Amino acid sequence: MSPWVRSASILARTIPSVASSIEIPTPDDWHVHLRDGPMLEAVVGYSARRFRHSMVMPNLVPPITDASAAVAYRNRILAAVPPSEHRELDPFTPWIVWYCSPAIDADELVTSHESGEAAAVKYYPAGATTNSDGGGTSLASFMTLFERMAEARIRLLVHAESTDPTIDIFDREEAFLTEELAPLCAAIPELGVTVEHVSTAAGVDFVAEHPQCAATVTPHHLARDRSDLLASGMKPDLYCKPVINSAADRERLVATVISGDPAFCLGTDSAPHPTTAKYGPTAKAGVFNAAYGLEVVADVFDRHDALAELANFVSRNGCAIYGVDPPEGTVELERASIDLERATHLTTSAGDEVVLFGDAEATRWRIRTPG
Ligand code: DOR
Ligand code: ZN
Repeated sequence: MSPWVRSASILARTIPSVASSIEIPTPDDWHVHLRDGPMLEAVVGYSARRFRHSMVMPNLVPPITDASAAVAYRNRILAAVPPSEHRELDPFTPWIVWYCSPAIDADELVTSHESGEAAAVKYYPAGATTNSDGGGTSLASFMTLFERMAEARIRLLVHAESTDPTIDIFDREEAFLTEELAPLCAAIPELGVTVEHVSTAAGVDFVAEHPQCAATVTPHHLARDRSDLLASGMKPDLYCKPVINSAADRERLVATVISGDPAFCLGTDSAPHPTTAKYGPTAKAGVFNAAYGLEVVADVFDRHDALAELANFVSRNGCAIYGVDPPEGTVELERASIDLERATHLTTSAGDEVVLFGDAEATRWRIRTPG
């Protein structure tokens, strides 16, 4: 067998007790990093195959902070979609997010949003994660911009993680929410906020307590916890920001999404990095899961006998949060009766290798998307 293909199960297989396939409306990915250049060309097909809307993060170098950069980026994304992934029904639609920075001109943002170009604004705490150097030192320093956004109904997407070095890494989501986001929500209750890649029980509670907030949840935060990251040898492929947290946090996230809570939707946070940037003295944060994220999420729901709720999490809740029409087409997910062969890596045209997260789950699922 090729080293790039795996068919052995890693996680325990569940005995299927109910129907072996389900059909769900075409899913959306409300948080994804598509990068640029050869990496964009290598990864965009995975997103285009599986998802309709993709909320594309702006942490390029330099970041997206104006209309011309956003439009040019969207055109590069669409040009990079392989012809085999073009769909008639529910075509792949990238939504470009602007990077919250003093460089944003609020009038230009509002005009661009009115014309359907600027999807939202993403706040990164400076230094919290990949390409966040140009991020903010506090939410409070952007109040004037946020007031304009609230008036214009432009959503704020937040990387909710404190960068205070005195706070334990596993407590940084809660610290940011309490110290930074709670005062902003109190000051501008009309501002729509998405807490991105929520990773803790504290994050779930925060969203429940703040009706102006919704949240994305990633496949990897639902399917792995910090013991997977650290207990049997440190796994750089599972290193991401916010860091994967405790089993109790993961269980709370799972309980929340399988309950169908409409404030929570899928955002894969698929974030490819070359293995050269993952394996070394320090690892870049990010998990590339656009290839098998849907299988991973289906597997989580299946193991909790909750496949009937999958469509709400991956296909419906996000449409309501972002005010878009529900999809027209459907996707079929079928449990495989034998382990399927799955690629474990991709290679870009620049020769970079990227590890595909979730290949173990993917051996158990066959997904059919409309042509
Ligand atoms: O793990 C992460 N990777 N978290 C982020 O917030 C950014 C992302 C990236 O761009 O690599
Ligand atoms: Zn992200």
